Amino acid sequence: MAEKFYITTAIDYPSGKPHMGHAYEKITADCIARWHRLLGEEVFFLTGTDEHGSKIQKKAKEAGKEPKKFVDEMVVFFKELCKRLNTSHDRFIRTTDSDHVKVSQGIFKKIHDKGEIYLGKYSGWYCSECETFYTERDLKEGNCPTHGKKAEWISEESYFFKMGAYTQKVLDYLQKNPSSVLPAGKRMEIINRVKEGLNDLSVSRVNVPWGIPVPIDEKHTQYVWMDALINYVSGVGAFPPESKGRLRKFWPADVHLIGKDILWHHSAIWFSILMAADMPLPKTVFVHGFINTEAGEKMSKSRGTVIDPIELVDRYGADPLRYFLLREIPFGQDGNFSEESLKERLNNELANELGNLVNRTIVMIEKYSGGKIPKGSVDKALQKKLKLDKIGKMMLKLELHHALREIFSFIAACNQFINRKEPWSLFQKKAREECKKELDSVLYSLADSIRIISILLSPFIPETSEKINKQLGVKPGLLRGCRFGLLKPGTKVKKKEILFKKIG
Ligand code: MSP
Repeated sequence: MAEKFYITTAIDYPSGKPHMGHAYEKITADCIARWHRLLGEEVFFLTGTDEHGSKIQKKAKEAGKEPKKFVDEMVVFFKELCKRLNTSHDRFIRTTDSDHVKVSQGIFKKIHDKGEIYLGKYSGWYCSECETFYTERDLKEGNCPTHGKKAEWISEESYFFKMGAYTQKVLDYLQKNPSSVLPAGKRMEIINRVKEGLNDLSVSRVNVPWGIPVPIDEKHTQYVWMDALINYVSGVGAFPPESKGRLRKFWPADVHLIGKDILWHHSAIWFSILMAADMPLPKTVFVHGFINTEAGEKMSKSRGTVIDPIELVDRYGADPLRYFLLREIPFGQDGNFSEESLKERLNNELANELGNLVNRTIVMIEKYSGGKIPKGSVDKALQKKLKLDKIGKMMLKLELHHALREIFSFIAACNQFINRKEPWSLFQKKAREECKKELDSVLYSLADSIRIISILLSPFIPETSEKINKQLGVKPGLLRGCRFGLLKPGTKVKKKEILFKKIG
């Protein structure tokens, strides 16, 4: 039976149009999901939107709309982003979906019925930008430590989850499981915070009507994180005991991919909730870095430094944007976005290295072999240049940028192979039997290598991979097809338009 792999992104607040951070997370998650499909695993990839809570309620009011109408309109942009980026998600969940509402209430009730939720009064600070409670000590001159916006004072009746009781359990779990939070530095960061102790968590609001009603007291709505985090369970099935197949098969998640600003919510809070609900914990919470401006600053609406990812796709195409983000930014670290660097990588790496290799090979097969892949054997020295095991290990360690670099060194090796072998000279001498044989083997080596390159690149730049397959006349392959010599001689190649146009 195929192994399963379940990956999620954070679900986005549809409070404004999607930005580069959203695009980056979806692209990286998509790349990982596609890689696991290549391994032959059964993959479930979940993304979506986080639609309740005071932030959305406020934005809808400012727009003069009912919250549901507001999110219905905004979600269109997020779905459009996924489509334009070519993400292969299995479900786009909205927290207003009725199955999610049911599951979310089910988990709340289960924890309540176990005696882990009690009624009390919350008095403290709250930032509606990140929907997070803060103590006086957390604030920076009265402002949210993450957003710098003024925190508001809240004093109201609230249900509390006894999160304080989970301090030691969460700490033990983090300490005993090196892969629970990655990269390692982030795990240490969270271990140190949890060591300071967890407080009981306010999990309901009486003054935020735009939320899921608390199942045991409809005056209250569920705290938006107590609703949003549960999407990872509802998105893949339903809450036990109703769920039969999918949840049992896919839970726990293999990877929750998130940004660094929400690590606390995904480790301290989420781990405690799951423990209270008697559910297994996700295998890895992977924290990716932030995309900053060219100058290394946070992208900001007021400074006009926010970049619309859909506009970038319009200008350059999805694959160049995907390639740039996956190659340029070491996965797990912050990186800067620069349109100049994107253009450079598009012109030099995608057009000159990859595009030329494919184009030259197809043209040569047409000219020297009547458009059909000749029979030949793959050059042994060239075969050795492909470090398949290394690439596989890098991908499992989520070193996406290293794996992509490694695939491109093989592309460079193929280009050097052409220059060294000079198929055009071999063609001149084709009357000599050994030259004809050598020419056929050179062309076969190149075509077979490109077939393998196309498989390896398919998680990174899927549209390009499809185009290469069409030119080579082959079907999409799996990782086990990355063995040399599998390309069928006689296959007809089809020259199409070049893969990448250079941009001035
Ligand atoms: N709704 C919550 C997540 C709930 S998950 C159960 C949220 N939404 S968000 O829209 O603010 O952020 C969505 C994701 O985008 C988060 O993982 C966040 O860290 C990430 N990013 C937001 N800005 C970013 C960058 N500038 N760069 C990279 N990712 C960043 O938080």
